[in-house]
Amino acid sequence: MSEAIESVLNETRKFPPPSDFAAQANISSEEQYQQMWTRAKEDPAGFWGDMAANLDWFKKWDTVLDGAMPNTKWFVGGKINLSYNCLDRHLLGPNKNKAAIIWEGEPGDTRVLRYQDLHREVCKFANVLKKLGVQTGDRVTLYMPMIPELAIAMLACTRIGAIHSIIFGGFSAEAVADRNNDAQAKLIVTADAGWRRGKEVFLKSAVDASLEKSPSVQKVVVVRRTGSPVEMVPDRDYWWHDLMKDVSAECDPVQLDAEHPLFILYTSGSTGKPKGVLHTTAGYLLGATMTSKWVFDLKDEDTYWCTADIGWVTGHSYVVYGPLANGATTVMYEGAPNWPDEGRFWELIEKYRVSIFYTAPTAIRAFVKWGDDWPNRHDLSSLRLLGTVGEPINPEAWMWYHKIIGQERCPIVDTWWQTETGGIMISPLPGITPTKPGSCTRPLPGVVPDIVTKDGQTVPGTNGGLLVMKQPWPSMLRTLYGDHDRFVQTYFSEIPGAYFAGDGARRDEDGYYWVMGRVDDVLNVAGHRLSTMEVESALVSHPRVAEAAVVGFPHDLKGEGICCFVSLKGLDGDDALKKELIAHVRKQIGALATPDQIRFAAALPKTRSGKIMRRLLRDIAAGREKTQDTTTLEDYNVLAKLRESDE
Ligand code: WTA
Repeated sequence: MSEAIESVLNETRKFPPPSDFAAQANISSEEQYQQMWTRAKEDPAGFWGDMAANLDWFKKWDTVLDGAMPNTKWFVGGKINLSYNCLDRHLLGPNKNKAAIIWEGEPGDTRVLRYQDLHREVCKFANVLKKLGVQTGDRVTLYMPMIPELAIAMLACTRIGAIHSIIFGGFSAEAVADRNNDAQAKLIVTADAGWRRGKEVFLKSAVDASLEKSPSVQKVVVVRRTGSPVEMVPDRDYWWHDLMKDVSAECDPVQLDAEHPLFILYTSGSTGKPKGVLHTTAGYLLGATMTSKWVFDLKDEDTYWCTADIGWVTGHSYVVYGPLANGATTVMYEGAPNWPDEGRFWELIEKYRVSIFYTAPTAIRAFVKWGDDWPNRHDLSSLRLLGTVGEPINPEAWMWYHKIIGQERCPIVDTWWQTETGGIMISPLPGITPTKPGSCTRPLPGVVPDIVTKDGQTVPGTNGGLLVMKQPWPSMLRTLYGDHDRFVQTYFSEIPGAYFAGDGARRDEDGYYWVMGRVDDVLNVAGHRLSTMEVESALVSHPRVAEAAVVGFPHDLKGEGICCFVSLKGLDGDDALKKELIAHVRKQIGALATPDQIRFAAALPKTRSGKIMRRLLRDIAAGREKTQDTTTLEDYNVLAKLRESDE
């Protein structure tokens, strides 16, 4: 992509931070931000070394930053434990009786775990893991609903230095098996099922199916959540509540190297199988801790709610680790926003007096559609700050969020970051940054972005280009699990000397960043990254499919929908086959990859060199008239037929 990216957005509204918010904010003056940002750019080791005083260390590091991108190490020689930082240190003062997690299940059941309670449960489960043979460095898969046991299991892993790999509950048995195999996981923690929109999402049965294909897993721990019957295999499967009965509540945190692997989180790339993004202990924790403090302006008295599922990186960093490291109260909700009705989120905010609320543009678009009556029926006066993450937010959805939820009182932080970055990178600081609807505004201290052309030149003026990072930061991924070459290739080969993970963006006259979306073959469906390649291979694994090309198209609620162009072997396709293919993709990947459209085509449009012309397919899927140059198209007839293939 050498030509500049055209931006169609022309947004000029600007909202300064309310003065009462500014007066109390953790970062409260423009000078403070400028000074932090400049220091972090010019002396990263000095800056981050100072910030690291916000964590508790068993042994101080010798070197803050060692090496250059792509191979950087942070806080070399330091010894630390993440669960100690999220739990033990808060037990020394009045926070020991503060709510760490306020949880509500979809059916309305509730649990509150104070810091002491969470510490006890984590120590006990860490002892359970040890009893089942898990050692420092072993991989543990967590495939669970949004219940407190998930946070407990994560923290227990970090206590003993086991590496967790959390798989979102919407993924299929096949996807679980792939991830188990890639990580060579030894143990898996799951539940009988979880609640979603009044129905059970069965997890244990999916685990059973996955284990036929992932033999590395020796033990399964099952939380009883819904009470649904499950099959328990003797000497392999254990109930959580049985194991927790007779273990000690004392478990010393292991003193781990700063660079000890912390977790693997699989995410989609533009080619091949999912990538096992690996984060390490101290750098990740420091990023999650500082960004929570700066961006969410966390204070002791806040009740903070991030609606993300812990199966995604947002849940890792901003439901669990960031808030707990800061000693905050984090709200966790198990189910859907529209169960039993569309007012559920607003009811929760009113009930728990939530002060900080962090959600996704796809959710906001659904709220807009459901209408203002739902939020208007509830008292939202406890809110003081709103956030969004996951995809570019359309300015009208931003304005609705500002007016109806924030009541023009709450700053909005539109936070840009990625699984790979570990924490927020570009975002307003709510006390100082005037916001513009649709822009994630400016880089946080320690983040040095640029907009470049394909050959790495800074794009002049306010034109679009590729968003890159020119300096390393502590919470960046260290490798792709088991495939360091792919790591270097994926993120550091495209643009010499910089990190690039696939987004296009532009910078306006105020230096604000406007992310324009992915420039690679990654879809962003309801804020979740999906590779077109993975959906294509799922389709091609069906016996009737000869070839498939998958593209995104604009979708009112999901941001991007999934459109599949499929050419068949033999006979023509019909509606029954469409249904079958949709079910097939769901079985291979999971419900989140459900195709919105299947279009049968005699052949796919290709260039003379045999490359599928995806941009053409994108236009057709979006119902746009032909805007692309088709002179390289091999067979013009294909195009006419594809247009007729409309559903
Ligand atoms: C997109 C989620 C615009 C972007 C934390 C990125 C955004 C991908 C924003 C990462 C935002 C995330 N504005 N786009 N505020 N936040 N994105 O790894 O395309 O699931 O590359 O991490 O989501 O998705 P991931």
